[in-house]
Amino acid sequence: MDPAYSIPFNQSSLQGRELEHIFRTMTIGQIAGDQTYSKRCHALLEQVLGVPKAMVTTSCTHALEMSALLLDIQPGDEVIVPAFTFVSTANAFALRGAKIIFADIRPDTLNLDERQLEGLITPRTKAVVPVHYAGVGCEMDVIGEIAARHGLAVVEDNAHGLFGKFRGRWLGTFGCLASQSFHETKNITCGEGGALLVNDPRLIERAEIIREKGTDRSRFYRGQVDKYSWVEIGSSYVMSDVLAAFLYAQLEVWPTIQAHRQRIWKYYDEHLRGWAQEHGIGCPVVPAHCEQSYHMYYLILPSLEKRQAFISFLKARGILSVFHYVPLHLSPMGRRMGGRKEGCPVSEEKSERLVRLPFFNQLSEGDQIKVIQAIQEFHV
Ligand SMILES: Cc1ncc(COP(=O)(O)O)c(C=O)c1O
Repeated sequence: MDPAYSIPFNQSSLQGRELEHIFRTMTIGQIAGDQTYSKRCHALLEQVLGVPKAMVTTSCTHALEMSALLLDIQPGDEVIVPAFTFVSTANAFALRGAKIIFADIRPDTLNLDERQLEGLITPRTKAVVPVHYAGVGCEMDVIGEIAARHGLAVVEDNAHGLFGKFRGRWLGTFGCLASQSFHETKNITCGEGGALLVNDPRLIERAEIIREKGTDRSRFYRGQVDKYSWVEIGSSYVMSDVLAAFLYAQLEVWPTIQAHRQRIWKYYDEHLRGWAQEHGIGCPVVPAHCEQSYHMYYLILPSLEKRQAFISFLKARGILSVFHYVPLHLSPMGRRMGGRKEGCPVSEEKSERLVRLPFFNQLSEGDQIKVIQAIQEFHV
């Protein structure tokens, strides 16, 4: 933890039986991947979300890379991603030679603006990658309908949205593929890790091969082939069971973690929304048909200058607040792909004004009160 801050932005913590599970997997000698704890994580995700196949991976970035391989993305293919997202949403497809087409976001939920989607589709478009920002669902019925009409694959980047729902259906179950993140900043974590949810059963067998260095080792372990060999291109995306043991300890108490984060989110909201409205500051928008995952709480300050002053003001009081996502179309790589200023005006504007407040599982009510009091002393 940075000693400059008495209230960090994020802090990892044990949520249950992490040490017991790690001790057990090391004692029984299961430290490579796809052993007891990985299988438990797979089963839990499959059972709760009702997905045909879940596979833990080394990261969400790698689950996205697997998606690009599974969809056989080739140089010259186009993939539509929101401009306001983490680099991996785009990079995973750019690695396969795809041209990234940046979509702007909705001003309310900050999710890919489905009303602009159709205008970005060309005969070369292969996939669209909606990101459920802050764990609030994108308009998946519209996105799904447009994608189906144009024969596009939908890959959900659900890094923020595990256990969130859109119209009563779990996020991560809409696309043919979805990626999860268990990075330390996420609701449920093992430090570094992710998962691929495979919703189209036709992709399961190849997903296993790609995840296992392009080999059919999974079939070999199941006794379906008598030796395994190189079947297609792939890489090393299997999570160690030491991390899976940690992850399982968090997953097995997921309802407790989610309920706790809901309390933290609501506490911020109850104490800040009125003040924010009075001062022309925006708060998260969660449409009635979305059950969010309580991943983060953010404010939208009136300008970049005010946002920077706000971050400094909290810093002087020992509180770390952070901005999020420099729009990808304005990054050096994004510009090489045709991104230009004012290309995605809502992403550009929100990116300059957004600030995320401290939010982690062990954040105490006392610390939340300190954050709220400090914010209310800020002269907007
Ligand atoms: C939207 C989004 N996608 C992907 C990632 C990458 O996740 P990971 O660190 O597990 O690779 C992140 C990371 O925070 C993210 O915010």
